[in-house]
Amino acid sequence: MLDPFSGSATTLLVAKSLGIDAVGIELMSVCHLTWDAKSHFQEYDLDELSRVRELLASSRPADSGVTFPHIRITRGAFSPETERDIMFYTTWVERLDVSPATRTLLRLLLTSILEEVSYTRKDGQYLRWDYRSAKVQERNRARLEQGRPPVKKVDFGPLPGVKQALLRAFDSVMADIRKLQALPFRESKQELIRGNSLFVLPELPAARFDGVITSPPYCNRYDYTRTYALELAYLGEGDNIFALRQGLLSCTVENRPKLQVLREHYRSLGAEARFERILEVVQNNPAFREVNEALQLRWQRGDMNNRGVLRMVEQYFTELTFIFAEIYRTSKSGARVAFVNDNVRYGGEVIPVDLLTTDLAVRLGFEPLKVYVLPQRKGNSSQQMGKFGREALRKSITIWRKPHA
Ligand SMILES: C[S@@+](CC[C@H](N)C(=O)[O-])C[C@H]1O[C@@H](n2cnc3c(N)ncnc32)[C@H](O)[C@@H]1O
Repeated sequence: MLDPFSGSATTLLVAKSLGIDAVGIELMSVCHLTWDAKSHFQEYDLDELSRVRELLASSRPADSGVTFPHIRITRGAFSPETERDIMFYTTWVERLDVSPATRTLLRLLLTSILEEVSYTRKDGQYLRWDYRSAKVQERNRARLEQGRPPVKKVDFGPLPGVKQALLRAFDSVMADIRKLQALPFRESKQELIRGNSLFVLPELPAARFDGVITSPPYCNRYDYTRTYALELAYLGEGDNIFALRQGLLSCTVENRPKLQVLREHYRSLGAEARFERILEVVQNNPAFREVNEALQLRWQRGDMNNRGVLRMVEQYFTELTFIFAEIYRTSKSGARVAFVNDNVRYGGEVIPVDLLTTDLAVRLGFEPLKVYVLPQRKGNSSQQMGKFGREALRKSITIWRKPHA
């Protein structure tokens, strides 16, 4: 199996639990930490974990003298006490006399609770901030001085302490490990490659995979480097956030074109002709052109407030076409490919991502098998709904097959 957008490595984990060899590709360090911890589920020593749990329960956080490696957008995310406790447990974990696997698991546990003990919540494109955070307090003070009303009050209610959240996460993970360890085990190999799938896939040998299950970023302007800012900063990736953002599949208005660098990469692999062929597939696709023209029209009519969306949409489908083409090349005949994606809407224009991507895939040689429509909890963005009316946006899984030669 292949998952070129592995995220928290669900595909790899399920493959492992079923004894299926798998390869994942992922850019973000937080996902690699997740996989490093998950991939050892068979090796965890439950006695050791129980001992650590007891130590954790009897621990008393104090000042460690270590500070949280904040970046601009995470500053003020914790109360002083919470921040002190996070850093206390960070050093506590590093000093424990435990196996490397257990230490990795503890690092993941700490990373996983950052959001719930903070004044922030992941919310689409951004982090939402509680009114108690220093950031909101300062903003409101400045507004007051200018005679403006305070920003709308957001209150996440009582927040758990670090130790309490850690214990809860610990228990939930222990229960998972017990369940997973009870499953029948078949030897298999999984690997999570750290890198950009646009650049990694062209380097992989042809006809290697029997199947692909993946969920790329959606074309919805959500920026993982913003929503995961706390975790990335905590893991020391603060200085790398800009490069990381630019590396991700283009799905924000801030993404710069990667086509030139990609062309050079293909050239360095002696595969320039392949690059040009793929580019031609997307640029000559009538449905893709229609989408771009429709958005252009909406922009000219003043229905859109950000011109960057036009470039984002164009880049998104262009980059995805490269992914599809490389999946085709690296798949064996008969391989099935499953993509999870959401349709999106800009300036009132619905972009049928599932049908457009399937059309692009067909032009690369895939055979379309099915589009499963998933139950959708969210509707349109409130902004789009208010202005253009409600229209259900599909969330789908598209299934394609590489035909037998
Ligand atoms: C929708 S999430 C995948 C979720 C995943 N199925 C899971 O189980 O968590 C998309 C992932 O793609 C990653 N990603 C985006 N662009 C990438 C790229 N060019 N190369 C590698 N990974 C990328 C993001 O960091 C994110 O983790």
